[in-house]
Amino acid sequence: MSQIRPATKEDIDGIVAVYDRVKLHRDKLSDPHYSAYIQKHGFLLGQETRGSLFDLIGGSYEFLVSIDSGLVNGFLIADHKDKFNDDDYKTWFDPKLKSEYLSSLRAITLTAIAVDPACLGQGIAAKLLNRLLLDLKTDGFQYLFSIVTIAPITNCPSLVWHAQNGFKRLAMGKPREKLFDLNWYASILFYTPIV
Ligand SMILES: CC(C)(COP(=O)(O)OP(=O)(O)OC[C@H]1O[C@@H](n2cnc3c(N)ncnc32)[C@H](O)[C@@H]1OP(=O)(O)O)[C@@H](O)C(=O)NCCC(=O)NCCS
Repeated sequence: MSQIRPATKEDIDGIVAVYDRVKLHRDKLSDPHYSAYIQKHGFLLGQETRGSLFDLIGGSYEFLVSIDSGLVNGFLIADHKDKFNDDDYKTWFDPKLKSEYLSSLRAITLTAIAVDPACLGQGIAAKLLNRLLLDLKTDGFQYLFSIVTIAPITNCPSLVWHAQNGFKRLAMGKPREKLFDLNWYASILFYTPIV
């Protein structure tokens, strides 16, 4: 049974091991088998390093790990979204929430969530999210935002997971010729109220 707790610096090896298993390999994107596999199983953009992940432990609003038999099998990072300001979203489905996303101190962003591919479908990501939502409620936050990649490849499990866990679509991103070292990157911004 997995336990959820705040990450410590001692968890870094386990976090990096999970991160490396789910990070995107841009050099393999032209391989249809790889492209199909990651669109089915999900991926992180893969631009963090061991050092940047290490700094985020204690350096972000919340960094949680899921532990089973002493091993990290999932993690979640949430942080203030003012580091991720981005007004290139073309279509806002609820313009009132645009200002919450761009400038509210009552809002926070789920910047990463990942589960070891060997442990998918056991509710680990949902447990990580539920712990975050409890802590956000305690701290008086109103909204949690989350960004999911839809191009040049689509994170299918993440889209379904967000829907299943109560997130709604807030904005549709305009494709950018080059972003995150990807061609024609586009995303969907989700949100959930914290109740
Ligand atoms: C997305 C992710 C975090 C889900 O983790 P998880 O622990 O398997 O998720 P949970 O067990 O909490 O939830 C399972 C639900 O997620 C959705 N889901 C998960 N994998 C799916 C898939 N391959 N296809 C469709 N839906 C999927 C379904 O709604 C599923 O519920 P169901 O089993 O009743 O159909 C996991 O796939 C992952 O780590 N992927 C790699 C990293 C990633 O993509 N992170 C998100 C970046 S935005």
